[in-house]
Amino acid sequence: MRIFLIGFMGSGKTHWAKILADRLKLPLYDLDMEIINRERRSIPEIFSNSGEEYFRLKEREILDDLIDNNSSMVLSCGGGTPCFLNNIELMKKYGTVAWLNTHVDVLLQRLIKEKAQRPLLKNVDDDDLKSYIIRKLNERRMYYQQADVTIDNENSISVNYLVETILHA
Ligand code: S3P
Repeated sequence: MRIFLIGFMGSGKTHWAKILADRLKLPLYDLDMEIINRERRSIPEIFSNSGEEYFRLKEREILDDLIDNNSSMVLSCGGGTPCFLNNIELMKKYGTVAWLNTHVDVLLQRLIKEKAQRPLLKNVDDDDLKSYIIRKLNERRMYYQQADVTIDNENSISVNYLVETILHA
């Protein structure tokens, strides 16, 4: 069983992936961390020195490797993972994709504190962050919506609800 957690930056992917992997006794991976470990540099460094296109190619390469090497896992994806290189189709073919459809106001609260680690956000003024999130989410929704399962209100669900919803899919 492979479970792919997708959603916007700050949607809770890392948090819920840990809980799911623990509950289902599955190996846990975080795609951003895999990229950082293999590249031996941070994501802002990769973006600024090699560009987003390079990052997206690495992201895909590592996604392929993780799928090849793990017949079961929980993978916390990057916010952009499903939106490039047909990654959403790949993930749906090899597992169950769950979208954390976290509310914009919750994303804003979380991201305003964590902008620096995210190259796409670091140059966005705090005052413009909400409209940036709304615009980017609108661009990405067509990919996120292809998930097998949509989890609304991630900040008020229980672990049991999440597990049952995903296993049911
Ligand atoms: C990105 C999200 C980040 C990381 C990179 C690009 C995006 O992951 O992959 O900064 O395009 O939304 P998180 O969603 O874990 O912040």
